[in-house]
Amino acid sequence: MLIGVIGGTGKEGRGLALRWARAGHQVRIGSRDAARAKERAAELGALAGGGAIEGGDNAWAVDGADIAVLCVPYAAHGATLRDLAPQLAGRVLIDITVPLQPPKVREVHLPPGQSAALEAQAMLGAATRVVAALHHVSSTHLGDPEHAIEGDVLVCSDDPAATATVIALLADLGARALDAGVLRNAVALEALTPVLLHLNKRYGASAACLRIAGLPV
Ligand SMILES: NC(=O)c1ccc[n+]([C@@H]2O[C@H](COP(=O)([O-])OP(=O)(O)OC[C@H]3O[C@@H](n4cnc5c(N)ncnc54)[C@H](OP(=O)(O)O)[C@@H]3O)[C@@H](O)[C@H]2O)c1
Repeated sequence: MLIGVIGGTGKEGRGLALRWARAGHQVRIGSRDAARAKERAAELGALAGGGAIEGGDNAWAVDGADIAVLCVPYAAHGATLRDLAPQLAGRVLIDITVPLQPPKVREVHLPPGQSAALEAQAMLGAATRVVAALHHVSSTHLGDPEHAIEGDVLVCSDDPAATATVIALLADLGARALDAGVLRNAVALEALTPVLLHLNKRYGASAACLRIAGLPV
């Protein structure tokens, strides 16, 4: 697949790009600064061992992609989506955003639309199928492709076909991905990340994660 990563120069985007390229996907890293994205793509391409990673601006990264992934801080979420709405029409968008409100990142913050993913879907309309995922996978482990992803990735959207496509793509990261229901459930998924950040601090961990027990998969 051709995967376009908006904000792919960042901590989470780099890990995703590297893992997907190593799994055989074509990855486009997007940035507000095309030169920065090209530099990151060259660095990651070397680590990917021949995997195809290219860099450019965010609009270029999304244009023509089979799947787009939004990897920018919540403060940039709305403006980035407004800018890219034309390129995102007709596509599946994985929104990994957690609406943290620095400096209180260990406290749940419900944004005006209740979740970043719901805000994205409302902003983009039915032309874009928003799938929320990856809120509980820390960049600490994601960036090291030799490190197993221990936690589950909970995935939700209002389009079962889009959810299934994303679950298959997440398996290529080395993760167990689970269908967590409708997009409204992103309220709960996004709200759990500050709890994990609290657990990290409270128990001196770097990347607490979630594992669901009792499933037959
Ligand atoms: N880090 C984690 O462990 C983690 C885990 C789960 C979910 N998440 C979520 O994933 C998203 C990305 O997290 P991250 O840690 O990768 O973030 P990050 O490294 O701080 O930023 C990612 C990229 O966003 C772009 N960006 C920053 N400010 C921007 C602005 N004002 N407008 C447009 N683009 C901007 C930057 O790209 P350019 O400067 O190149 O444009 C940057 O490289 C966040 O929503 C976060 O909640 C993170």
